[in-house]
Amino acid sequence: MTRRIPAGERGAIDEAARILGASGLVAFPTETVYGLGADATNGAAIAKLYAAKGRPAFNPLIAHVRDIAAARTLVRFDAAAEKLGQSFWPGPLTLVLPKASACPVADLATAGLDPVADLATAGLDTIAVRVPSHDIAHALIAALGRPVVAPSANQSGHVSPTTADHVFADLAGRIDLVLDGGPAPVGVESTIVASLDEAVTLLRPGGVPRNAIERALGRAVSEAPQPGQRNDDEAVLAPGMLASHYAPRARLRLEATEVKPGEALLAFGPDLPPGTPQAARVLNLSARRDVVEAAANLFSHLRALDRSGAHAIAVMPIPHEGLGEAINDRLARAAAPRE
Ligand code: TXA
Ligand code: MG
Repeated sequence: MTRRIPAGERGAIDEAARILGASGLVAFPTETVYGLGADATNGAAIAKLYAAKGRPAFNPLIAHVRDIAAARTLVRFDAAAEKLGQSFWPGPLTLVLPKASACPVADLATAGLDPVADLATAGLDTIAVRVPSHDIAHALIAALGRPVVAPSANQSGHVSPTTADHVFADLAGRIDLVLDGGPAPVGVESTIVASLDEAVTLLRPGGVPRNAIERALGRAVSEAPQPGQRNDDEAVLAPGMLASHYAPRARLRLEATEVKPGEALLAFGPDLPPGTPQAARVLNLSARRDVVEAAANLFSHLRALDRSGAHAIAVMPIPHEGLGEAINDRLARAAAPRE
């Protein structure tokens, strides 16, 4: 049985922290998307988390911590990481950095996972860390007093949840608790940046736009690898970036300039294409062409259009500026051929 508690209810955070402390699984809101939390130091809880998500064991997790000081106990910061942490935390940025020695995050090898998982994580020797800005996330981590690992709270391969209802649709009966804190404000996952041996790489575009990262660093960072163009080395560097990771059931047709018979339309901007009146359903990411608003609507609109029963979703072009890069990345993954 999965319980659901309004996050603002008296005692809700303490109850959630108690469940995490007892090896349980709690979904909670962050500013990006809902996360499925487990105690990062508890290998058995992490094993349960993988089972609940149906997640491939080679896909490592982000450790969520309360502040940069807590992050320093887990990973080693170089100068670039220091700048990025100071500039964007708390907020929608994840840093992949070398493990500090004597790190308390459970080695996934002790979680009883498949040898592939041991190789994928132990081989990397890095941890992804993030300081979320959402009040509920912050309060929960503080109440547990330990890092919380949290992938997006969806079944592996589905789009990320931005509301408690989305979490329920995917994980009801598989987790202990959903803390309902209303819609996640940013709507796309965190930007993931690795800083290893002075080389800074954008592993996943997300809630902090690339140009903001580059401004903070005073230099360009290498582009995120595009779906379908990944080689084996990149697959090791960013193991979670499977091309078809974010898949609704309906096929997606990108850069659509018309709606074909039987399609639903994911619109952007005020000018709708020919065929719109016949569309199975129409939802607009942002009628006023605002990519921030579009990011916040992306996953819930994809879910709603998928539920319309249309065999395909026509997606209007989205500009590649600011959060548009993250939106186009998720759309390209959702459109990629299924593996
Ligand atoms: O916004 C977010 O980041 C959300 C919220 C809940 O914080 N979390 C999230 O987690 O999106 P998840 O597990 O769905 O995506 C994390 C990505 C995965 O693709 C994973 O492979 C990658 O981060 N990752 C984790 N640890 C890594 C590491 N050491 N090196 C490279 N990639 C890593
Ligand atoms: Mg995810």
